Amino acid sequence: MTDQARKILVTSALPYANGPIHLGHMVEYIQTDIWVRFQKQRGHECIYVCADDAHGTPIMLKADQMGISPQALIDKVSQEHQRDFSGFMVNFDNYHSTHSDENRYFSSLIYERLRDAGHIARRTITQAYDPEKNMFLPDRFIKGECPKCGAADQYGDSCEACGATYSPTELKNAYSAVSGARPIEKESEHFFFKLGDFEPFLQNWVDKHVQVQMKHKLNEWFEAGLQQWDISRDAPYWGFEIPGEENKYFYVWLDAPVGYMASFKHWCEKTGNDFDQFWSPDSTTELYHFIGKDIAYFHTLFWPAMLHGSNFRTPSGVFCHGFLTVNGQKMSKSRGTFIMAETYLKHLRPEYLRYYFAAKLGAGIDDIDLNLEDFRLKVNADLVNKVVNIASRCAGFIQKKFDGQLDSTLVEPTLYQDAVAAGESIADAYEKREYGRAMREIMHIADKANQYIDTAEPWVLAKQEGREAEVQACCTLGINLFRVIVSYLAPVLPQVAQEAAEFLNIQDLGWSAIEQPLLNHRINKFKPLMQRVEPEVIEKVIEDSRQDLLKTQQTAPAASKTALQQEPIASEISFDDFAKVDLRVAKIAKAEAVEGADKLLRLTLDLGGETRNVFAGIKSAYQPEQLEGKLTVMVANLAPRKMKFGVSEGMVLAAGPGGKDIWILEPHEGAQPGMRIR
Ligand code: MSP
Ligand code: ZN
Repeated sequence: MTDQARKILVTSALPYANGPIHLGHMVEYIQTDIWVRFQKQRGHECIYVCADDAHGTPIMLKADQMGISPQALIDKVSQEHQRDFSGFMVNFDNYHSTHSDENRYFSSLIYERLRDAGHIARRTITQAYDPEKNMFLPDRFIKGECPKCGAADQYGDSCEACGATYSPTELKNAYSAVSGARPIEKESEHFFFKLGDFEPFLQNWVDKHVQVQMKHKLNEWFEAGLQQWDISRDAPYWGFEIPGEENKYFYVWLDAPVGYMASFKHWCEKTGNDFDQFWSPDSTTELYHFIGKDIAYFHTLFWPAMLHGSNFRTPSGVFCHGFLTVNGQKMSKSRGTFIMAETYLKHLRPEYLRYYFAAKLGAGIDDIDLNLEDFRLKVNADLVNKVVNIASRCAGFIQKKFDGQLDSTLVEPTLYQDAVAAGESIADAYEKREYGRAMREIMHIADKANQYIDTAEPWVLAKQEGREAEVQACCTLGINLFRVIVSYLAPVLPQVAQEAAEFLNIQDLGWSAIEQPLLNHRINKFKPLMQRVEPEVIEKVIEDSRQDLLKTQQTAPAASKTALQQEPIASEISFDDFAKVDLRVAKIAKAEAVEGADKLLRLTLDLGGETRNVFAGIKSAYQPEQLEGKLTVMVANLAPRKMKFGVSEGMVLAAGPGGKDIWILEPHEGAQPGMRIR
């Protein structure tokens, strides 16, 4: 070991307690877990804590919809999250909840210290209010028509059809996604954290503690000016009440990062460790947060400012990662690439994905792609054909011919020493989160080992008389190289490492142990450590993911569903107005996905003589190929509209509550493209 034992506290972001863990989340938890296991393997004290993020409006409303209490919901989800994390071998030292006594205590303490130091402002603001549900509505619970392009059912902050951003008050015919009621405006007093008070501190902190790419982003934020942050919500709210106030609650993002402290405190209570050693302002321990780039603002501005302003230590580093795409696109429910952790684990070993993510991860914030075919080929090529193969090519001879006994010397000591020496650079790569580089360097050693065995040809020697000793020598080196490789891979492949240790008949796959090769040592019988991934298995994962989607739709109606069913009838029009609408039968000649649009399909409609290009927001309900050849009804005389993705020359008629349940209108048989509908 070159460096002294460090004391390190590590966290991953706290997953929301209103939905299942999917493979996108797993990028983060696998990235963190590898880092923590690496630090432990290097002999450092490294504690990894996490928790469910259990507060906020979405959780309150979801529990409401399901007819259970928020407590029952978060208990259930916490179990599921922990099951999935442990399925992926993510080894937390403690997993807690933000709805806990520890978190209430620290959230209140931090708030009170900030308040007493003058960092909290009060101001009355006006917000959208649902007069039926008697609650203020967050932007994403207000829907309506886009003020720019008129597209229906857009969220309160941005339009998915044209990309416009706006404030919810600009939406036309706005309605509450909770009750369907028309929102009214209502005043109330809110509390604000004066982030601007910390500008000089933050400029300095950011300079030393975040990745370069994030610094650029942060500079934009600094230039735009640090706004006061609204940290209160009015009742009814699922969270902690603000001390000294009535009917005021902490906004979920105030107590969420405090959950890191709370989980650590909970661990200290259980294990008898000292909380202050890690959190006092002069602490010499290290604190790192692994997060996705979507939540950087909270972790690189609000959180260090809150800690600094309340006399706690600040993070030693915030490590941002990019987002996961599957087969080059955003994960999609209808394509079956929105893969839940649970679904993956039904069919595939967690270590395949751990290795694939490791091979793809760097220290930056670039997105990473899970290409399922590449995944299968890479796992087979690297893990099965390269790494495990070394052991399986050598173990049999040692077992059969030498009763499991390894030789007393290494035939080519430099080959072994080179592999050991590579450990420094590999460790450096792990430390800097350049896992892709670490994996490449490890596979390079595996290539060397295989080349050596290829040349030595123990299977040929074994058939020749008097060359027994050479067989033992060659296989002893092979097995020793295998041990080094598996030691380096242990943070990524904990189960393989454990089984390999049993096979090698050793206790420790630690980093420094490999300096001593295994000589005059008896190994155990070899069992295959890993199977190839077959294409059918990948197919099953995709098919099951499509099924998952159907299941969730049957059991839990989406918030938008209730809302749409109660969508108010629009104001009355005259018969003449109606008569102006030219409805025609149209044949869908072509249907295709629109790059960058979640909801839209581009339809080429045949009107019996002329074709029209129309964008329709029905992607959630139909695969493009299902639509081709179908007849539908269209508004043929709608003025062309320029949208973000092109000009739309009409509108097809469809009905349904939304999501998977949207049906295009299909006229009965006998209809011909171009026919007028009366
Ligand atoms: N509850 C907040 C975090 C609070 S931390 C004090 C939250 N939860 S989340 O469940 O939405 O996300 C948890 C973590 O998973 C975040 O760091 C987020 O960036 C990450 N990811 C969620 N989807 C992801 C991908 N598709 N790809 C990569 N990471 C993703 O945010
Ligand atoms: Zn729009």
